[in-house]
Amino acid sequence: MVNVAHTLENLHTETRSFRPHAAFAAHANATAYEYKKAGVDRLQYWREAALRLAWRTPFTEILDWSDAPVARWFHDGTLNACDNAVDRHVREGRGDRVAFHFVGEPGDTETLTYADIHERVQRAANGLAALGVGKGDRVAIYLPQIPEAVVAMLACARVGAIHSVVFGGFSADSLRQRIDDAEAKLVITADGGNRRGAHLALKPLVDEAIAGHPEQGPAPSVEHVLVVKRTGQETAWVEGRDVWWHDAVDPQPASHEPVWVEAEHPLFILYTSGTTGTPKGLFHTTGGYLTGAAHTHRIVFDLKDDDVYWCTADVGWITGHSYIVYGPMINGATQVLYEGTPNTPHEGRWWEIVEQFKVTILYTAPTAIRTFMKWGEAIPQQYDLSSLRLLGSVGEPINPEAWMWYRRVIGGDRCPIVDTWWQTETGAIMISPLPGVTATKPGSAMTPMPGVSIDVVDDAGRPVANGEGGYLVVTEPWPSMLRGIWGNRHRYVSTYWNHFDGMYFAGDGAKKDVDGDLWLLGRVDDVMNVSGHRLTTTEIEHSLVAHPWVAEAAVVGASDEVTGQAVVAFVIVRGDAHGVPEDGEDVAAALREHVRRQIGSLAKPRTILVVSEVPKTRSGKIMRRLLRDVAENRPTGDVTTLADPSVMEAIRDGLEAGR
Ligand code: PRX
Repeated sequence: MVNVAHTLENLHTETRSFRPHAAFAAHANATAYEYKKAGVDRLQYWREAALRLAWRTPFTEILDWSDAPVARWFHDGTLNACDNAVDRHVREGRGDRVAFHFVGEPGDTETLTYADIHERVQRAANGLAALGVGKGDRVAIYLPQIPEAVVAMLACARVGAIHSVVFGGFSADSLRQRIDDAEAKLVITADGGNRRGAHLALKPLVDEAIAGHPEQGPAPSVEHVLVVKRTGQETAWVEGRDVWWHDAVDPQPASHEPVWVEAEHPLFILYTSGTTGTPKGLFHTTGGYLTGAAHTHRIVFDLKDDDVYWCTADVGWITGHSYIVYGPMINGATQVLYEGTPNTPHEGRWWEIVEQFKVTILYTAPTAIRTFMKWGEAIPQQYDLSSLRLLGSVGEPINPEAWMWYRRVIGGDRCPIVDTWWQTETGAIMISPLPGVTATKPGSAMTPMPGVSIDVVDDAGRPVANGEGGYLVVTEPWPSMLRGIWGNRHRYVSTYWNHFDGMYFAGDGAKKDVDGDLWLLGRVDDVMNVSGHRLTTTEIEHSLVAHPWVAEAAVVGASDEVTGQAVVAFVIVRGDAHGVPEDGEDVAAALREHVRRQIGSLAKPRTILVVSEVPKTRSGKIMRRLLRDVAENRPTGDVTTLADPSVMEAIRDGLEAGR
């Protein structure tokens, strides 16, 4: 573990505080009573939250922690996630409510009510069943941000299948790794998606993933590929394996009885970077996860019937799972779903969408906010943003300056901001202000959610005093907690539960300020956060050393004004490598392309520096801290533990010479 002390030194001393406006507080879904109720009886609090779901058979036990650290919540109840997110609204007379205002990047729009989605998920569920997909089967979903992505996820849940959504920015290799690990029977994809005004092909990547490298052979688990026609681009076809969505789903009957599952039935797997090279397949189950997602969505975003809610995340990430698909849909939200990028065709696109659909609640990431700051406030000012009443932030620490800009320029100084801390593992928001209750401080996620027990501890696992920093831990199980790493209980226990006895180790550093409010300080492990995307240093190092030119590689996350962190790689080129370009820039360009192909564009290093050595401890561990100093142009810190202290000189000299 890295000591967080150096991060603490940099912490801004922030004294501003913003109380909720009385008018907002008067109508808020959540009052201070939430904390009181949860404080009196945490389990009863969660029981009440769970009772807001539609259960097929009621549960009698709230929490079974006898097999810790694998929790079972509400385990003797049965339900169906799709029934909760869709059927229930139709059944209770809300079928005409708009579920999604879909906006395609080229400008196409589609309005889908809950009744429309109901019809589509039933056809899709019948289509999946016809392809042999049933309870417990795994389905990989590799789609653009289009309504079919939501329908596909819900249709899986409807038949009891476990979805594993893979973000469209991942490469064929990454997709293959995830298909194999989950042993997915079916892959749902599209011919392509729209990205920055062009057609981005997806199906060829699926073909490449399934075919595999010559030494690997075809993916053994995949029986079919279900393909949505989105862009209409030319698509290769494997007869017998590939089926069009419009052939396999659209003609199906629009009636399907959901498969009722036990509360602990897995709902989805989602891969995320771990501290070792291979991504971890985190999995969540049904009852507890849905309880956490729906409850937090209702109280943090203060959702009302007439709200128009827009979460700008991709459904390929946990934020899209919990706060586009499950939480909001269970709450019957009307949402915006946007396929494209913020600057296509112009830098005002998001604000145009807010104006057009009168968005009231916006949930986005600090990296986006900082990008808009860079583009300038004159752009959002051209649009009517007066419909907005609540703003949310997620994915990385938000710096006070970005927070203030978000509040003033986007929120017109009237909207509360909820800075929500959570993780793929936690399934739902764990630390956040409640918008009608909490006086917020710019840059602080403030306090644990009601019913969530969080602390900051020192190296020995002892809670730190106010004013001090340490490691963020969760001290009691919570309903939406991950139930494990797919197929690897040992890795689950050792990653999260072995650091501090009986406590969940989040991997984040945090500080309690003098009032006890929480400030997140970023990761304390080898995980980087680049534009809110989680990447591991080792994952990228593995990719780089797989290139024939590279003898050794060391990757660090260096601070970046817009993306939070950026990937910086130090590589040592092999002496015996053939065809290596003279110019380091050309080497860097080739290696960046290599990483893009291996992992995906999101992992492409911003900077690759060719060096003659990397600093290591006497036991051979790369000293990333020192490389981060170099990458961030700081004087190098303590080098006494280096096996060869002159290495740092050599690196700096080499870089100077190269500049
Ligand atoms: O470091 C924390 C950061 O994102 C990590 C979790 O990443 P992921 O599983 O991809 O989920 C992202 C969306 C929930 C955390 O360990 N993080 C997330 N939200 C915040 C944050 N850091 C500071 N403040 C936040 N609000």
